[in-house]
Amino acid sequence: MPETFTTSSGAAANASLPPTRAVKLRINGVEKQLQLAPWTTLLDALREYLDLTGTKKGCDHGQCGACTVLVDGKRINSCLTLAVMKEGADITTIEGLGTEDNLSPLQQAFVDHDAFQCGYCTPGQICSAQGLLNEGKAKTAAEIRELMSGNLCRCGAYSNILSAVQEVLDNQKA
Ligand code: FES
Ligand code: FES
Repeated sequence: MPETFTTSSGAAANASLPPTRAVKLRINGVEKQLQLAPWTTLLDALREYLDLTGTKKGCDHGQCGACTVLVDGKRINSCLTLAVMKEGADITTIEGLGTEDNLSPLQQAFVDHDAFQCGYCTPGQICSAQGLLNEGKAKTAAEIRELMSGNLCRCGAYSNILSAVQEVLDNQKA
């Protein structure tokens, strides 16, 4: 028997069945149909409903960048975004950037430059760096540092992350 409670207006409300709605998301080129509570973040939709656990939950408050994904090519914090807001958008996660046998240039550069230690921040760093490259604003090491400053690395791998991103940027320019 579902549990009910009474609202201030005296009406009975169902407490065990929150309202959900159908949400269509295009993730890594594949359309997914989900039934979600409207307050589900994009981060939770990816991790809890689609098993795309490459995207990490760090702070869940927009402060660390671990949850960065690309939406229509632009980097966003998926913990600050409701899944319903991204209906019909093209979402790319770390799983969609490359594969184990065919790493993206940034993924390869992170490996080559040893740009991680525990790896927890790495998917967010790489998605953010991809967004940075898409924006085309960073030209120097100082600009890369500034424009990647929303992505924290508790292991302090910053100088190697910078080298990796700089290499891909330089290769793009060449
Ligand atoms: S988990 Fe989203 S910014 Fe930290
Ligand atoms: S590699 Fe550990 S937090 Fe960045």
